[in-house]
Amino acid sequence: MKDYTASPDLLKDRVILVTGAGDGIGRAASKAYAAHGATVILLGRTTRKLENVYDEITQASHPEPAIYPMNLEGASPKDYEDLANTLEKEFGKLDGLLHNASLLGTLTPIEHYDIELWHKIMQVNVNAPFMLTRACLGLLKKSADASIIFTTSSVGRQGRAYWGGYSVSKFANEGFMQILADELENTSIRVNSLNPKATRTKMRAMAYPGENPNTLPTADEIMPVYLYLMGSDSKEVNGQALDAR
Ligand SMILES: NC(=O)c1ccc[n+]([C@@H]2O[C@H](COP(=O)([O-])OP(=O)(O)OC[C@H]3O[C@@H](n4cnc5c(N)ncnc54)[C@H](OP(=O)(O)O)[C@@H]3O)[C@@H](O)[C@H]2O)c1
Repeated sequence: MKDYTASPDLLKDRVILVTGAGDGIGRAASKAYAAHGATVILLGRTTRKLENVYDEITQASHPEPAIYPMNLEGASPKDYEDLANTLEKEFGKLDGLLHNASLLGTLTPIEHYDIELWHKIMQVNVNAPFMLTRACLGLLKKSADASIIFTTSSVGRQGRAYWGGYSVSKFANEGFMQILADELENTSIRVNSLNPKATRTKMRAMAYPGENPNTLPTADEIMPVYLYLMGSDSKEVNGQALDAR
């Protein structure tokens, strides 16, 4: 799949929501989806970063995206309902949902893990994707071919010392993906998880401060799988835990 080449109009006329769209992998995915014809809803907590991505997309003459500033840490169920209602009004459907935003927290032994931080991580990485998915399912059902992608991690498939709340949250994402994929089998919505693996972003640098970032692929370089899973070439793929490379 890492050698997958997307057709230029793979995502033409599709409406795709990306969380954490302002930076790192979410920024790269938003630009890649727009470059293949999608109207992208850029959701994130830092408006300035979302505006920069908006500018990059429009300057490249790709379909005009929409900016939706939202901090997943403090968002309430009503905020998700408001978002879904806005999308319904503006677009009438949703063809793709990339759950990408997440909080790393700290690398700390469980015995000393900060309880408040644990709750924050669960709110952003687990509860937010649940509430967002729940609110958007009606809109996704209006698409002839919809894809939901959960961004996971190697530590969401095999536990590792000190990765604490982040690791547990990624295990939860994998489980949530499996439940949803099973529930939606035989519908037009497919659900999969994707592990980007080590990628040159701020989060990676935070987790591995001693690492030379230039040894890692950039977010742009791992986009083939993100495109594959979002477009119709993956129509039959459901309930799978995949790697970006
Ligand atoms: N990079 C890797 O090596 C790697 C490896 C495995 C898995 N992953 C996963 O890949 C995904 C993307 O990570 P990344 O490396 O691209 O990280 P990143 O560069 O830190 O980007 C994360 C994005 O999520 C946004 N975000 C964080 N908390 C948020 C909140 N409360 N509300 C709304 N948006 C929020 C950030 O917003 P701000 O820009 O405002 O901070 C940022 O745009 C994550 O799910 C991560 O766990 C990454």
